[in-house]
Amino acid sequence: MGSSTCNPFALTSHPFVTGFKSPKLSHSRRRLNGSQRASKVTAYYGLKETPYKLDALEPYMSKRTLEKHWGEHHRGYVEGLNKHLEKDDILYGYTLDELVKVTYNNGNPLPEFNNAAQVWNHDFFWESMQPGGGDMPKYGVLDQIEKDFGSFTNFREKFIESALSLFGSGWVWLVVKREERRLAIVKTSNAINPLVWDDIPIISLDMWEHAYYLDYKNDRAKYVNVFMNHLVSWNAAMSRMGRAEAFVNLGEPKIPVA
Ligand SMILES: [Fe+2]
Repeated sequence: MGSSTCNPFALTSHPFVTGFKSPKLSHSRRRLNGSQRASKVTAYYGLKETPYKLDALEPYMSKRTLEKHWGEHHRGYVEGLNKHLEKDDILYGYTLDELVKVTYNNGNPLPEFNNAAQVWNHDFFWESMQPGGGDMPKYGVLDQIEKDFGSFTNFREKFIESALSLFGSGWVWLVVKREERRLAIVKTSNAINPLVWDDIPIISLDMWEHAYYLDYKNDRAKYVNVFMNHLVSWNAAMSRMGRAEAFVNLGEPKIPVA
């Protein structure tokens, strides 16, 4: 997919911007009694650019929605996370995946969790869509979906039903369940993502109102159907499934996904 170098909202001039999995050290030292020094160490995360231009998903997801959703909401989560991290050196050095799991704290989330998870969720969501997306997956992804859901039609119906039955804000996911060694659909409330249960996410759909209101008002059904028909990236699903298969044996028949 093309780069988003024309993206006017990119935070490229931010002095602390780093790749989202590469927190960067910022040392601020203050002198104590001449030779003594205390070192404050802080990890900063950057706003990752969308993998396409902000108008690339039109007419199904408008540039205006991306400007608000990515340029304001996603940016706000990054800034909120960094504000938290400024106060807590203990959390330095984690990748974003690790930070999400650690701050979930076995179901008693630390204050950093919501922002950390929402940064991860949005990075993943943008890459779960592509211009010219939708339709059906191919090859191994399709075979695995048919194996685990009976048919693609059945999977599609279950995914849509899960999205529409989600109460309030949250997310719907296609994941690989490590223990069960199969694909499954899960829905999560607010910022929670399935990493905290050790699932491997394959596709996500943002069901927060800010994701669809400008384009679809309250018509969540239309938004979800458009996602399935025109936006979901089965290419991303294929590469994510390929990585998942390095960790999970999905059983027989062995289905190559890439
Ligand atoms: Fe969102």
